[in-house]
Amino acid sequence: MDYKITTEEIWGRISRGRKVKRLTVSKDDLSVSVINLGATVQQILYRGKDMILSFPTPELYEKFSIGCIGATVGRYAGRIAAGQFSIDGVDYQLTKNQNGNHLHGGQSGFQTKLWESCVIDDRIQFTLFSPDGEEGYPGNLNVRVTYRITEDNGLEIAFQAESDRDTVINLTNHCYFNPNGLDASFNKLTNPMNHDNRDVMLTVNADHVMELDGEIPTGQLLAVEGTRFDFRTPRILACDTDDLHGNYDHTFVLNPHGPEQPVAIAKGLKSGVRIEFLTDQPGVQLFTMGNPGTVFALEAQHFPDSPNHPEFPSTILRAGDVFSSRTVYRFSHE
Ligand code: GLA
Repeated sequence: MDYKITTEEIWGRISRGRKVKRLTVSKDDLSVSVINLGATVQQILYRGKDMILSFPTPELYEKFSIGCIGATVGRYAGRIAAGQFSIDGVDYQLTKNQNGNHLHGGQSGFQTKLWESCVIDDRIQFTLFSPDGEEGYPGNLNVRVTYRITEDNGLEIAFQAESDRDTVINLTNHCYFNPNGLDASFNKLTNPMNHDNRDVMLTVNADHVMELDGEIPTGQLLAVEGTRFDFRTPRILACDTDDLHGNYDHTFVLNPHGPEQPVAIAKGLKSGVRIEFLTDQPGVQLFTMGNPGTVFALEAQHFPDSPNHPEFPSTILRAGDVFSSRTVYRFSHE
């Protein structure tokens, strides 16, 4: 077999002496490490280059869980206005953990949890049980995230969830990329000369972004034509430094596409590395971080605040049904 998995490596400890495991799977040009804290992708090495932002210790992942660095985010990735929604006339109130809204599953979202892990052939699987009422969500929920390296240097991420009551769900992976390669240390972020998204070309197959009222979608879609959101043809990712809007934190509404058709492509002009993003989800959240946008997350997911927008694709998970979604980050080079 041409892949290799290292299992049960204890990477370090977090609060209350809890042990964090790190598992690595390697195949061809790709080596991926994941940790059970937040079912997080901790490192992606492509031809020896670090493709994602990472922390060197588990303590830092625990301390800065708000950034969701590489993590699995849930139960609901993104915002729910005032933390309120209803299903079939029954009202629910979630934790309000950011500016009066609910963000990324609340105070103790999935990114903060220690997941169970197991290895099945060439797959690493994490499972988590989230009890009925956690952060205000209805339903005992069982979640599964499976990582696998594909035949063509892709990291495939498969999500599954099941609940015993009707609930809402929106799961995503929150890796921050730079295809030019990053030093595997968060501190390097403070040096914008090292990593600059001016050297990243991004393409996103989206004619529209979501209009926002503050941080919450109004329900209206804005055409990207003629705006800084027009990535339909390759465009330098970095914001113009004169642009007061600064970084991106916006939802792109993906155009209809097939499951094997990339919805986005990021190319490192310095490295010649291409990252293709494939997903079956209706949107991607582009979030840039650093100065001026050193790394970017492209979170494949449903739209923010969908439970309050019947016109958006539904995020309701009915009791006994299985939610499943799939996202792939595929790496290649010139
Ligand atoms: C998403 C959100 C951002 C921010 C980041 C990480 O991208 O839209 O506002 O919360 O996650 O925390």
